[in-house]
Amino acid sequence: LYEKQILPEQTMHDLCGSPVRQLFVPESEKTALLQVAAKEPEVELTTVDLQWLQVLAEGWATPLTGFMRERQYLQSLHYAQIFDLKKKCTLPGQEDAVEDPALVDNYPFYDNSISQSIPIVLPITDEVKEQLKVVNGSVGSAVSPDLVKRVKLTYNGQVVAIVEDPEVHPHRKKERVNRQFATSDVRHPTVRMIMESGDWLLGGDVKVLGKIKFNDGLDEYRLTPVELRKIFTEAKCDAVFAFQLRNPVHNGHALLMRDTREKLLKQYKNPMLLLHPLGGWTKDDDVPLPTRIEQHKAVMAEGILDPKWTVLAIFPSPMLYAGPTEVQWHARARLAAGVNTYIVGRDPAGIQDPDTGDFLYDPTHGAKVLTMTPGLPNLEIIPFRVAAYDKTTNSMAYFDEKRKDDFIFISGTKMRGFARDGVEPPQGFMAPKAWDVLSSYYRNKALQ
Ligand code: ADX
Repeated sequence: LYEKQILPEQTMHDLCGSPVRQLFVPESEKTALLQVAAKEPEVELTTVDLQWLQVLAEGWATPLTGFMRERQYLQSLHYAQIFDLKKKCTLPGQEDAVEDPALVDNYPFYDNSISQSIPIVLPITDEVKEQLKVVNGSVGSAVSPDLVKRVKLTYNGQVVAIVEDPEVHPHRKKERVNRQFATSDVRHPTVRMIMESGDWLLGGDVKVLGKIKFNDGLDEYRLTPVELRKIFTEAKCDAVFAFQLRNPVHNGHALLMRDTREKLLKQYKNPMLLLHPLGGWTKDDDVPLPTRIEQHKAVMAEGILDPKWTVLAIFPSPMLYAGPTEVQWHARARLAAGVNTYIVGRDPAGIQDPDTGDFLYDPTHGAKVLTMTPGLPNLEIIPFRVAAYDKTTNSMAYFDEKRKDDFIFISGTKMRGFARDGVEPPQGFMAPKAWDVLSSYYRNKALQ
């Protein structure tokens, strides 16, 4: 029916009727904005803060208008969702909620609630908080009436964004990490980072002065949701399935992606894969981003993933290692790029328990939780069983408990060990050129 033009071509426009909220300032307004903010205080961002700013600016967390205000922070921490976004932050006794007409008119889809399991916040210290206090009596927001009206956000001393109508609220770090990670053990690297950050959070509407770049040779892969939608629309694709990853692609991952495409082909004409490695902060022993991108390119060059239906791009978010809580963020963020199908497998966003070395989160919970996530509209979740190396076929296959002795599990640690020691992994585990990228990285590292 599509081919005979009886049914109109289904395009990305149909698939992602929801708009993306980018937070960039139009070029024509920049000078004026910088002038108004000229005398306002500055807050210097860390690299991780800048990564979150990029997430917000490009609209991955649509419809958030900036770093979370207290109301949104509490919604995210306690309900794993954000809702009633048109209301600005109110406290009991201050119910003069202001409606943001832009939200009411343009974002009816988000008027209900949308999954937001991860707080996106900007921690500041006591000293910085003091600097944000008004000296001459001008009035900030109703919640923090003694604050300046604007704050400049800088990175390496350069102004990158302005926060308007700022609000400072308590970070409650220990409470946050316990809710978000189910632990406050600082041997968990993200817990440590949060526990070492400021005791306060600076929320407010953010106006970003330009596309955030890292000048590391990889900016061309940092495609915004709007840019990705354009690519998918131009490719006339009628379904987009996303694969989030922070590890090198082995043939078990590829199995999940190829099986998803086969499944979608029963329903769609041209489903395309968004191969979407996470590009923000990762823990020290993860494979660095430039090596991963080279490895992913080799996987595509070897035809394990067909470049005709694969788009490789970087997801700018930092990693959290919050397991089932985090996988909901990973899935939800991809909605912005027009993704309608999301793949999830074993132990997504997982990490080892520092006491036992075992999985910190139940490795099956991520997929189970994600298929039930409230506030995740128009996203089909495709959960997969664990894939392992099947010695009887010399290939990666879904693990079969009934013949468990036929399988070997090659964990990240084991894989890194092979690469470092110059040991070839079993044939059929990873495309040879992709393995070369990895092993040369580890061999060079061992020489340093
Ligand atoms: S993650 O932190 O991004 O989740 P990783 O890059 O290891 O880590 O995983 C990417 C995706 O592949 C996740 O959905 C994860 O559940 C899935 N996955 C990883 N390894 C396997 C495996 N052996 N079997 C099935 N799914 C897997």
